Amino acid sequence: MQCAGADLSALAGEFGTPLYVYSADAIAARARMLQGELAAVEHTICYAVKANSSLAIMKMLAGMGCGFDIVSGGELERVRRAAPEALGRVVFSGVGKQVWEMDAALEAGILLFNVESEAELEVLAERAVALGKTAKIALRVNPDVFAETHPYISTGLREHKFGIAIEKARAVYQRAMGLPGVEPAGVSVHIGSQIRSVEPFAESVKRVGKLVEELRSDGMDIRYIDAGGGLGIEYGAVEFDPAASVHAYAEAVMAASRSVGAHLLLEPGRFLVAQAGALLTRVLYVKQNGSKTFVITDAGMNDLIRPALYQAHHEIWPVVASSREAKVVDLVGPVCESGDFFAKDRELPELRAGELVVLLDAGAYGMSLSSHYNTRVRAAEVLVESGVGRLVRRRETLEDLMAAEIY
Ligand code: LLP
Repeated sequence: MQCAGADLSALAGEFGTPLYVYSADAIAARARMLQGELAAVEHTICYAVKANSSLAIMKMLAGMGCGFDIVSGGELERVRRAAPEALGRVVFSGVGKQVWEMDAALEAGILLFNVESEAELEVLAERAVALGKTAKIALRVNPDVFAETHPYISTGLREHKFGIAIEKARAVYQRAMGLPGVEPAGVSVHIGSQIRSVEPFAESVKRVGKLVEELRSDGMDIRYIDAGGGLGIEYGAVEFDPAASVHAYAEAVMAASRSVGAHLLLEPGRFLVAQAGALLTRVLYVKQNGSKTFVITDAGMNDLIRPALYQAHHEIWPVVASSREAKVVDLVGPVCESGDFFAKDRELPELRAGELVVLLDAGAYGMSLSSHYNTRVRAAEVLVESGVGRLVRRRETLEDLMAAEIY
């Protein structure tokens, strides 16, 4: 198997496993696809850094004109290092922004703060005044739209912690108008992640468009609609046409910004990077427990937690094709939890110790959700450009892991 012309066995040999491998071309193709669909409206694609915060990937996307959606001071620092020229294209989301993070973002001159509560609004106004800055703000409104996805990643209902109820928003905006240091400039919405139908997007931006009109009639200069992220992909062995999917999505989200004449901001993460990345891992052992066969890999739930956390499905392929018979196995990691599995009762070509397998569609929320659980160093990362794999994050050492500890 190859990744954009780079041989996966060779990459594993050179850089070791577990190894995240990304195709630069595949990421660029997705970004261009989305940019192309949005060409008819003024827009900025603010890549959601949390999906994959590799500096190399961020640098590449910034080079294509993208901005960033950040949720922490740490992610802001990533933008500063990877693409300082893009600081003016940053939107700052998140329900729990801290003072130091607001200060850093105010100093950096970011594009927009997506404010999630009145309490946050007050703190932000205070900080902006203290620093002699004006914060352009959008309230993240909660449109009360249901989007079919995993409950952990659905955000647009009243019962969720995110945003401000849309029917309350107008009053909060009026309050913001009276506060020094903040300037209402946009309305933002994000209803969840891995959403595969366009209706919830269409419905939520429609509600946002209506609010924009009301706010303008109240005298506010609302120039931005931030429609968030959330466009899903297909993880299974299912036909997926990204061009068709992004076309329908773009039509839906452009409708509101067209009708009110606003600059459209989007915060895609998964759609840009998920299918451009894979996790390469080596089989350590194969063991039989009663009627079950376990294939134990050197990657574990600390490297890719999506199956354990969301019962997510990732396709699994042997790197070298064999004509061996298929077997029903559990593919599991070495971590000491029964939740440490990549697949249960999956039919896979028979695998043997020492062989390589690849977990597909792991470019989003793979490495970025990884941890040191079981005191395991995190995977290395390779970005394939023009058929050549370049190490963009070296494997950690045990020294890295323990460097911050005092004992
Ligand atoms: N904007 C905001 C405010 C968000 O909270 C998120 C994702 C995004 C944008 C990007 O959403 P995307 O386009 O990637 O769907 N760890 C989970 C996904 C968590 C999503 C959190 N928020 C997973 O592995 O499926």
